[in-house]
Amino acid sequence: MRKLLPALYHRDRDGQLTPDSRVIAVSRAGIDDAGYRDKADSELRRFVPDAVHEADIRARFLQRLHHVTIDAGDHSTWDGLQALSADRENRVRVFYLACAPRLFGPICFGLRERGLVIGQSRVVLEKPIGNDLESARRINDEVGAVFDEEQIFRIDHYLGKETVQNLLVLRFANSLFEPLWNSGSIDHVQITVAESIGVGGRGSYYDSAGALRDMVQNHLLQLLCLVAMEPPTSLDREAVRDEKLKVLKALRPLAGETGRYIVRGQYTTGVVDGVAVPSYRDELDGVASNTETFVAMKAEVQNWRWSGVPFYLRTGKRLDRHASEIVVQFRPVPHSIFPGVEENTITPNCLVLRLQPDEGVRLHLMAKEPGPGGLRLRSVNLNLSFAETFKFRFPDAYERLLMDVIRGNPTLFMRRDEVEAAWTWLEPVLASLAVSVEPPRRYAAGTMGPAAAVALIERDGRTWHEEVSE
Ligand code: BG6
Repeated sequence: MRKLLPALYHRDRDGQLTPDSRVIAVSRAGIDDAGYRDKADSELRRFVPDAVHEADIRARFLQRLHHVTIDAGDHSTWDGLQALSADRENRVRVFYLACAPRLFGPICFGLRERGLVIGQSRVVLEKPIGNDLESARRINDEVGAVFDEEQIFRIDHYLGKETVQNLLVLRFANSLFEPLWNSGSIDHVQITVAESIGVGGRGSYYDSAGALRDMVQNHLLQLLCLVAMEPPTSLDREAVRDEKLKVLKALRPLAGETGRYIVRGQYTTGVVDGVAVPSYRDELDGVASNTETFVAMKAEVQNWRWSGVPFYLRTGKRLDRHASEIVVQFRPVPHSIFPGVEENTITPNCLVLRLQPDEGVRLHLMAKEPGPGGLRLRSVNLNLSFAETFKFRFPDAYERLLMDVIRGNPTLFMRRDEVEAAWTWLEPVLASLAVSVEPPRRYAAGTMGPAAAVALIERDGRTWHEEVSE
């Protein structure tokens, strides 16, 4: 209701859905088409403000919606779904599985049993793909027994975000950056995905996942891959994913050193956006959980390009702002020619890709402060705001990704080997944290996480980028 229907609504509004395309929602809700359309109508008005004014487009979209009540785990209840799908064998058919990962395999088997998998079928799997390497492999095997790899779309919505795609353009459609994109010029990289929301109604899922599985295993590692990968030969589906896979495989194993490289946190009560909010444990009705809602870590990519360049990753809930950025910090100048200015007081250049909000790119440069007298240096920003430059509604990531599924383009989706490589790296970390006697550090909601996260980077003589952390 919040992401998928609005995304499809926007694509429909732009004329990208064929006149007879349908959206069939399946759940155990026991409602009919009319009931589902009513609910969708009110949610669209809420999540797509424009929909309020476009009565004819909304009405057309709502007519596409159907609802069938089934129990995903009991294939004998699937008659209605089978009946609705009859006689449309020449269409593209997308099965979008937004459910517990343990159901992915059984649902795919049900689809096959019921003859619902046709030539032009694709299946979309929402993360998490399992909760460790073994479960990810099992899911991949089960789904792979029904669908070919090119029919399987493992969605990571971060890859559909405009600024994330822009990273590819920035790196590979400009000749400026690539010669500098290595350990010779870059000191370190920071990737921060800060959220001000708590876990809300997703407590039971979240408590079994935590920030490492929920955010790091997928979104943050995918961002790291796009920053660190070698130039692919083309945007071809395999070329990009081959390069990302090499990065995942080059990540330095952290097991055994989690104390030095990883800080976990969990929020307590605090104030976010001027509102007092409960602690994580209170949100779980007082369960004495030790699940992390915050992680900061130092990762390293062991190859020629990135040797000695740390990638600091940080994500958390109930932080003091909703802000996601990739910061590429360049090295300081080697020598100062300016009288009275030491080279270490000249702010090094820094390229900031702002993923959300205020999507854009900023390049921090040194400039001369205007005016007579002594030569004073100041760090200033070249600021490219996408909203101002393109004056365009920013499409949600799902709009792009859902159309890619329909068109059969998996470039921005995770391949099986990528998911498994990410788990291979993370699993020993999770295993060593699971037996750690040290619980996540508490941090007050509305702050940027535990003080130890600051110490993690400051120990290396560096600091979190101030626009995110100040
Ligand atoms: C989801 C996570 O994948 O991404 C959520 O499960 C998280 O916990 C969300 O809140 C963040 O996405 P976005 O697009 O709001 O940054």
